[in-house]
Parts: sequence; C-alpha cells; structure tokens
Amino acid sequence: MTNLDTLYLNADDHNIYRSAQILADGGIVAFPTETVYGLGADACNDHAVAKVFAAKGRPNFNPLIIHLADLTDVTKYARLNDQAKVLAAAFWPGPLSMVLPLADVSPLSELVTAGLNTVAIRIPEHPIGHALITAFGGAIAAPSANPSGRISPTSPQHVMDGLAGKIDVVLDGGNCQVGLESTIITITHDDQIVLLRAGGISVESIEAVIGRPVLRDEQPDVPQSPGQLLSHYAPSAHLQMNINQRLPNHAHLGFGDMECDLNLSVQGDVVEAGANLFSMLRKIDSFAERHALVGITVAPIPEQGLGLAINDRLKRAAAPRD
Ligand code: TXA
Ligand code: MG
Repeated sequence: MTNLDTLYLNADDHNIYRSAQILADGGIVAFPTETVYGLGADACNDHAVAKVFAAKGRPNFNPLIIHLADLTDVTKYARLNDQAKVLAAAFWPGPLSMVLPLADVSPLSELVTAGLNTVAIRIPEHPIGHALITAFGGAIAAPSANPSGRISPTSPQHVMDGLAGKIDVVLDGGNCQVGLESTIITITHDDQIVLLRAGGISVESIEAVIGRPVLRDEQPDVPQSPGQLLSHYAPSAHLQMNINQRLPNHAHLGFGDMECDLNLSVQGDVVEAGANLFSMLRKIDSFAERHALVGITVAPIPEQGLGLAINDRLKRAAAPRD
C-alpha cells in the first residue's frame, strides 16, 4: 500500500476493523490513546516498524513502546515479576508504560527494542485504541504520531498537520483526555521503581500503591529513555518558563487567574493544564508567529501531580536547539 494519500477515518467498528487489516498488511496507522495519538505498526514486522521511524524522522536508536490489549498478552513479550504485577493491577489499562526484561524468545522486531534486552509495554485505556489493538490481535508498536522532536498530537488534526501523506491512516477518536504521554518506569533487580519519564500517572499515585519512594533516573544525561533527550516537544518560537507576567512582545501562556493570551487552567488545576498543554502550545506558537512576537512565556506550574510531567515537557520545549 502507498501512503501518499493518508486515509482519514471515523472510528466506527468498520473502520477500526479496516485499520487493523492495514496494520496486518504492514501499513502504519495513527490511533487515539488517552495520552496522545500513537503512530502504530505491527511490532513483529521489521518493515512496518521501519516505516514508522521513516515517517517520523526518528533516530533508529530510540526504542518504541508496544501497546497490548490485555494483561494476559504481556508474557508473550516480557517477563513480569511480582512488583510489575502490582503496578499492572493498579494502573493498567492506563497511562503507565513499564520497561520490562524481554521474554526469552521474543517475536518483536529488533527495531522496536533498538537491540536492548528490555521492552516498554503499555495497555491503553482509550476505547478506540483498545478496540484497534484487540481487532489487530497482537502488539502494536507506537511512538507519538508527530515528526520527531516536535509537539505530540492530542487530536487527529494535529496528526494530519505533521504527517499527512506520510502515513496510511488517521483513525479519528477526537481529543485525548490526558494529553501528556504515559509515565515510564522501570524496576531494578532489588524491586526499586525508577522513573524514566514523568507522564500521565503521577509519581505520588505510584508511591501510594508501592508504599515507598519512586527513584529518579540517576543519569538523566545518559538517557535510558531517549524521550529524555533535550530539545524535544519544540514549538517554533523561543519559549521561557516560570514567567509570572506578560512581557512586551511575548505571547503569554497562563496558569491560574492571570492576564495572558491563553490559559492552561484558570482554576490552577494541573490535570486540566496537562490536557490542554500540547494543543495550547501549538495555538500560542502560531499566534506568536502571526503577530511576529519575540517568543512565548509560560507561567510557573507547581511541581506536584501532573505538574511534574508538564514542567518536564516545558523544559524540553525551552531547551536550546541545534
Ligand atoms: O503515551 C505514550 O507513551 C505515547 C502513546 C502513543 O503510547 N507514546 C510515546 O512514545 O510517547 P514515544 O516513542 O514518543 O516515547 C517512548 C519513550 C521514548 O523516550 C523511548 O526512549 C522510551 O519510551 N523507551 C521505549 N523502550 C524503551 C526501553 N526498552 N528502555 C527504555 N526506554 C524505552
Ligand atoms: Mg514522542
């Protein structure tokens, strides 16, 4: 199949089935999850996975998350110890990805794992994403459906804006509810939980389940999780964080009751701000461009709950670019 023309499909039962067929035939399909839209391929098909890297312009050393429909499927791909089972019971389906040791015999394309002996696994909660994985009947490898290094998509239109003509299908499931990518954790040999990427499940809620602190990745400069590469999620305009008021010639993205051009959450709610973050970054970026402004400023966001993930994405959006 060629993907010069991207099919834009409403996510009814027929089109979910059709998209699953396209995946089975080696095509690449953008589909909704509760976090962001993913760009899916059959995780066991090298050629299909290679198309995902090509469409995104993603470096090959950056591994992908596999998306499964059900906990019973996990052991086909990875080893699940007792600690992982506790987290799975608490947070799956949902916005948590676990980096687990690969199963002894793995059917996955090595492009998915980038040759590592671990694999990142997620069971999404979104009914359409879930239905697609079920209809496909296997593991769907999916990074976020955006050109590498750009802002992640939380609507089908965002996907089209970045990847139209480069992918086979966009399955329209409306706006993503969480709006931030999944939280990624790994489990050490002595059962410590290490945070690799802050995301849609708060650290506090993981700590409440395990009854001890989640550790932070000790070497963030040697990314275990290349989503930690700096200058990611980049808007076109220069961005500054932690700015309390509007500056001349800047577009201001607010939080809480304040004067601004767009507000992530007037109530100062980090969950609402997370859901709005990527779409508002896109809007304020084009606003800044249309008005020939110097850059974007963003109000301080508390470092609590999903605020940790929001500040992480903003730091990367603010990072110097090559
Ligand atoms: O919410 C999400 O996680 C979305 C949706 C589509 O599921 N996906 C997503 O994928 O954000 P992506 O490719 O943009 O980010 C996946 C991150 C990357 O930073 C990658 O380095 C890390 O997961 N990762 C994947 N496999 C890994 C592994 N075996 N070890 C460590 N990090 C891994
Ligand atoms: Mg991404």
